[in-house]
Amino acid sequence: MKKILVTGGAGYIGSHAVVELQQAGFQPVIVDNFSNSQESALAGLRAILGHDVTCHRIDCGDAEALRQVLRQEGEVAGVIHFAAFKAVGESVAKPLAYFQNNVGSLLTLLAVMPEFGIENLVFSSSCTVYGVPDALPVTEETPTKPANSPYGRTKQMCEDIVRDVAGAPNNTVRTILLRYFNPIGAHDSAKIGELPLGTPNNLVPFITQTAAGIREKLTIFGNDYDTPDGTNIRDYIHVVDLAKAHVVAVQRLLDKQATDTVEVFNVGTGRGNTVLEVVQTFEKVSGQQLNYAIGPRRPGDVPAIYADATKAEQVLGFKTETSLADSLASAWKWQVALADSQ
Ligand code: NAD
Ligand code: WQD
Repeated sequence: MKKILVTGGAGYIGSHAVVELQQAGFQPVIVDNFSNSQESALAGLRAILGHDVTCHRIDCGDAEALRQVLRQEGEVAGVIHFAAFKAVGESVAKPLAYFQNNVGSLLTLLAVMPEFGIENLVFSSSCTVYGVPDALPVTEETPTKPANSPYGRTKQMCEDIVRDVAGAPNNTVRTILLRYFNPIGAHDSAKIGELPLGTPNNLVPFITQTAAGIREKLTIFGNDYDTPDGTNIRDYIHVVDLAKAHVVAVQRLLDKQATDTVEVFNVGTGRGNTVLEVVQTFEKVSGQQLNYAIGPRRPGDVPAIYADATKAEQVLGFKTETSLADSLASAWKWQVALADSQ
C-alpha cells in the first residue's frame, strides 16, 4: 500500500480525504497539530475504517519534526497539503499568523520533500484566488484577481511559490493545485464532519447550528445583489465528493500522467445556488423551520461565483455525485449526531 502524507488530516476536508484514500487502497499518514481540530476526528476515522490511522501530532512547518516523521515512515509516495488556517475574518486580524502558517508550512514541505525523494504534491487552493470574477462560470483560465483578505493572499502566494519552485532547474516535485469551491456536509456515517470552534463563519454550519438551537438566528448577508433573488451565489460541493478529487489527483501524479509540473483544477459542482436556495433546501430536507433575517451585506463578499467543472471532468474523470439537498441532509445528520454525543 502506498503511503500518502496528509497534512491537516484531522481537519474537516482532510479527514474525509483520509477515508477516501484508505478506501481507494492507499495508506494515509496524518500530520496535524490540532490547532483547528480535535482528537475525536481520529475516533471517527477509526469507527468508519475499523482500524486506527497513523497520526503524528506535529506542526508541519517544523522542518525537523517533519523530517523525523518521514524518517520513521519510510517510503512516502505523495503529500496532500491541507494544513492551513482558513478563517477569512481572522486573517485580517492576524495576518502574520496566516502568512507564517499557510506560506511557511508550504515552504517547509517543498524544502523537505526532495530530501526524501517525494515527488508528488496535491495542494488545497481555493476559488478565493478568482476574487470577483468578470464572467461566470470561472474556468482555470479565468484570471486571478487581487484577493480581498490575507487568507486569500496566502493561497495566491502558495500557488505562485509552487509554480516558481516547479520552474527551478533542479526541481523534482510535481504539483496539482485544487481550487475548491464551497465544501459542505459530512460523511454519510455522521462519524466525521465539520467542527467549527466558536461561532461558525461559514453558511452551512451556521444554518445547522441555528436549526439545532445553538444560534438564535441566521442573518443572510444582503439581498440586494444582482442575482435572481438578490442573495449571493456559490458553488456548494459535498465534502466527500471533494475528498474523492484528491484521490484521483494523487493517482494522476503517481501514474505520471500530469502533463505539466503544475496543473490546476477547479473542484466544484458547476452549479450555482443562492443563499436563499440553500436555506429553503435545508428547511425541506431537515423538516426544520429556520429562524433567519435579511441583514446588511458582509464586507468583502463576492456577489456570485461558481465553477466551470469541465476540466476536472475531462482530464481527471472527476464529477461530483451529490445534490445540494443530499449535501445539506448530511450536514444536518452530522449536527444531530454531534448534539447526541454531547
Ligand atoms: P480545517 O481547519 O478543518 O483543517 C485544517 C487542519 O490543519 C486542522 O486539523 C488543523 O489543526 C491543521 N493544521 C493547521 N495548521 C497546521 C500546521 N502548521 N501543522 C499541522 N497541522 C496544521 O480546514 P479545512 O476546511 O479542512 O481546510 C483544509 C484546506 O482546504 C485548507 O488549506 C483550507 O485553506 C483549504 N480550503 C478550505 C475551504 C473551506 O471552505 N473549508 C475552501 C477552500 C480551501
Ligand atoms: C457563503 C454565503 C455569505 C454566513 C469562504 C471563504 C473562501 C472559501 C470558502 C476557503 C455568502 C452567506 C454566510 C452567514 C450568510 N474558503 N452567509 N450568513 O464567503 O463563499 O467563502 O469560504 O478558501 O475563501 O471566503 O463562504 O460559507 O462564509 O458564505 O448570509 O451567517 O453565505 O454572504 O454569500 P464564502 P461562506
